[in-house]
Amino acid sequence: LGSLLTVDGLAVSEVSRILALTSHLEAMAPEERSQVLKGRRVALLFYESSTRTRTSFELAAKSLGATTTLVSDKSSSIEKGESLKDTGLTLRALGAECIILRHPAGGAPFVLAQTTGLPVLNAGDGMHQHPSQALLDLRTILSRLGRTDKPVDEHVLDGVTVTIAGDIRHSRVARSNAMLLPRLGARVLLCGPPELLPEEALGLGDGIEIVRDFDAALKRSQVVMMLRIQRERLAGLEIDLADYIIHYQLNEERLQAYAPRAVVMHPGPMIRGLEIQGEVADSAQSAIEEQVRHGQAVRAALLVRALEQA
Ligand code: CP
Repeated sequence: LGSLLTVDGLAVSEVSRILALTSHLEAMAPEERSQVLKGRRVALLFYESSTRTRTSFELAAKSLGATTTLVSDKSSSIEKGESLKDTGLTLRALGAECIILRHPAGGAPFVLAQTTGLPVLNAGDGMHQHPSQALLDLRTILSRLGRTDKPVDEHVLDGVTVTIAGDIRHSRVARSNAMLLPRLGARVLLCGPPELLPEEALGLGDGIEIVRDFDAALKRSQVVMMLRIQRERLAGLEIDLADYIIHYQLNEERLQAYAPRAVVMHPGPMIRGLEIQGEVADSAQSAIEEQVRHGQAVRAALLVRALEQA
């Protein structure tokens, strides 16, 4: 109850409720906001590095009056071999009421929720899911396309095509967005070379298609979401980076030729000069910093949702 483990099974009405709660909390004065979770205890349990997700969850929790504690695999008894279960039970014994987990193994948040009985917010599990990222991406898209006044339902993204380009194979962000956006009416085009986007990559559902030609995908898109090549997950897979840049880098020339009005997004961390040119990341078309800000806002709502049901 209150957990967010995957976007699969998250009803559209619940997505709508989360975004409404996000806006409600955002509109509060800081003093009022700091009372919402006053005295509640949130643990951040991170087995992989993170800048945006960890910091935004932490700042969101603090702005609501909660106390936070960070446990990272690099500086805790996890290094000595303590299991996920025992780490979770220890945090619970110390008073944690909600755990935010990032873990390299897909499914780890389900295990933690089951073994601790606490609400768990999945902050990214391996190549599986990154549900809070998909929600913040949705809020960014709605905001940039001027659709925030529409009800968040199965039609809110009607007529919107989103290209997700790059390393789809290893991307939990792609998986969560490809699961969420078509349910709200969007068409999702997945774009990348076969080694980073195998035909069987995502179990294509309604509203999703593979388009190998990046320029062709851009021509059809109102939104383009670029992904980093996840070198840490390549496991021996060789990528010809020079060739990759020619075919899949989002550069100024390509953007102006094929999608001069598209919203440019990237979940971060981005590698300037590889999947995206620095000029594009810094351009007026880029919503990358807005994504970060929406992340903090959405994560505040997820914390309230988790703790109001705990
Ligand atoms: N988008 C994202 O998950 O970024 P971090 O790895 O910095 O948290």
